[in-house]
Amino acid sequence: MTDTVATPQTQDAPAFPNDRTCPYQLPDGYRSLRDEEGPIRPVTLFDGRPAWVVTGHEAARALLADPRLSADRTADEFPATSARAEAFRRQPRSFISMDPPEHGPKRRMMISEFTVKRTKAMRADVERIVHGFVDDLLAAGPPADLVTGLALPVPSMVICELLGVPYADHEFFQDASTRLVQSTDAAGSMAARDDLARYLDGLVTTLQAEPGTGLLDTLISERLATGEIDRAELVASAILLLVAGHETTASMTTLSVITLLEHPDQLAALRADPSLIPGAVDELLRYLAIADVAGGRVAVDDIEVDGQVIRAGDGVIVSNSIANRDGSVFPDPDTFDVRRKARHHVAFGYGVHQCLGQNLARLELEVVLAAVIERIPTLRLDVPVADLELRPATTIQGVNRLPVSW
Ligand code: HEM
Repeated sequence: MTDTVATPQTQDAPAFPNDRTCPYQLPDGYRSLRDEEGPIRPVTLFDGRPAWVVTGHEAARALLADPRLSADRTADEFPATSARAEAFRRQPRSFISMDPPEHGPKRRMMISEFTVKRTKAMRADVERIVHGFVDDLLAAGPPADLVTGLALPVPSMVICELLGVPYADHEFFQDASTRLVQSTDAAGSMAARDDLARYLDGLVTTLQAEPGTGLLDTLISERLATGEIDRAELVASAILLLVAGHETTASMTTLSVITLLEHPDQLAALRADPSLIPGAVDELLRYLAIADVAGGRVAVDDIEVDGQVIRAGDGVIVSNSIANRDGSVFPDPDTFDVRRKARHHVAFGYGVHQCLGQNLARLELEVVLAAVIERIPTLRLDVPVADLELRPATTIQGVNRLPVSW
């Protein structure tokens, strides 16, 4: 190792993460980080601690696949990006917070419901759910809030059917999930996690007495019963799946609709040729990168990256929004182009923790965007994009309301 610079220096290191001012563009601070030389940059977190942020696409993939980076959120050095994330580190762990060799067997317990084949078999169900909510929207007539009318209920109902959670309880768990990922105070977020844990623990008891047909039933009968997973971990995994299953896809739907309406030429291209929609979904995933702060890690050994050294114990955050705008991989990266071949983006992460639900998310987005384009052709925003209230950078990116008419 020669000419290396050690441990992120806090002096003059910019704050991270940065709030967006436009739903689909990088904040100015991220452009500066991207435009500086080198694929990793020192930043300062909310509590004044230093960390490295990974901005280069190649380095992002290499580091997310590197066993010298740990996903264990309970490690003291884990780079929490908010007080809420800091408090969450002390909650019971699910497999997103485990490293190999512990992680693989736990992930494999869930994977049967998320394979390409299984997802393909779900297309008819997803279409039924999407068109049902579009029917309701059209029947009620404009104006409408696209978040509560379509973007949120679709993935919420899909993940309920997949897990075997009663959709009748959706008001409770949608509210609790939103509080969990968006509360600005740690106590509010932890109270929401407790509410969800109590609810799902009660559901496990119910399903033990009266089994259903969802993934939770399979986990209860095949894994809990054999001791391969304990109850606290089963509940933690159920919270992860329930929350990740609807908050993320709902945000992607909402921001995708905004992005398409703001790029009428691209929307027209999809309308003229719907076979472009699957590719457009990946371009939207690249462009919007809603789960930007999901890539936190802590180094368990020294790692040299392009002449700099990440020391054991350093916090590392792979910013998928910046890596997805790496011009050496995605030419003209700030341009939204539905014809771009963008599938190698890192919006779903990379390596062993790459999003378990990515096939399902892509399917839901394809079906919902096709339905909106075909069935609500005159859809328009009721407020200027600049007036939309954007969520802070510390959570899943998105808006909580999207007033529309047609
Ligand atoms: C567009 C929607 C989505 C985006 C952008 C997204 C993004 C991500 C990202 C970036 C990660 C990696 C986290 C890390 O590296 O630590 C991840 C992991 C994960 N996602 Fe998603 N996600 C989406 C939808 C979903 C859906 C629908 C589910 C379904 C239940 C889901 C379940 C999970 C799970 C369980 C993990 C942890 C995987 C593991 O640790 O092995 N996600 N997601």
